[in-house]
Amino acid sequence: MLWVSETSKFEAGKAIRGGIPICWPWFGAHPQVGHPQHGYARQSIFELVSSEVKEDYASVVLRLDPQNSSDEGWANTLELNVEIRLGDGLWMEMRTRNLSEETVSISNCFHSYFAVSGIRQVRLPQVQKKSYLDKTLGYKKCMQTEPVEVSGEFDRVYLEAPNVIDLHDLQARRRISIETWGCENVVVWNPWEEKAKQMPDFDDLGYLNMICVEPANAIPESIKIAPGKIYRSGQKLRLS
Ligand code: BG6
Repeated sequence: MLWVSETSKFEAGKAIRGGIPICWPWFGAHPQVGHPQHGYARQSIFELVSSEVKEDYASVVLRLDPQNSSDEGWANTLELNVEIRLGDGLWMEMRTRNLSEETVSISNCFHSYFAVSGIRQVRLPQVQKKSYLDKTLGYKKCMQTEPVEVSGEFDRVYLEAPNVIDLHDLQARRRISIETWGCENVVVWNPWEEKAKQMPDFDDLGYLNMICVEPANAIPESIKIAPGKIYRSGQKLRLS
């Protein structure tokens, strides 16, 4: 189901170009210099907390140690646990705990890269009639009146995302269903030809066979977590 670029760097301190990078504790660019795009979680090493094999799934819980935050501004503020279950689909949940004594605001995203047979043959019926911010037009607010068809650079933050999004790959006659919780938006991204060539870790022609459909809280600081509380957001991917 998932796409990984053949030229992805698997190096410490670099995000993998593919799979499902965890964007946390912010999505997109950070207003302050020196903070990496999409947060520091996706380029950090997680530790294994537990693993389990049950009758219908196997799971792991991974943790990002708040003491060793690679971003000093965030050290000891938040703890992130990610649980991943493999069963009749891929189930993932981010659990963000506020360790501080003040309310903390975050944004986050499951930056899922899906493999598709042909990008032009992809459809996402549930985002039709939804409003979105078009990042290619400086975050202009627009309405998705037509069915989604990708034939150029595509970078949209759909607002009020539905809880189930189906990714239809018409060429492969395949449908992936994406069920979400705790995610207010869904981001849909394809860099297209020129931007793909500009990224050293993105195969030049890879854009023809991938699409990112990213359950997210993409608006900066949109999720407020009170002291001691945990915020849960998740997705379940299933072939249907
Ligand atoms: C998407 C964003 O989620 O991620 C795009 O909406 C961005 O604007 C893309 O270009 C890839 O980001 P990065 O940091 O992995 O190159």
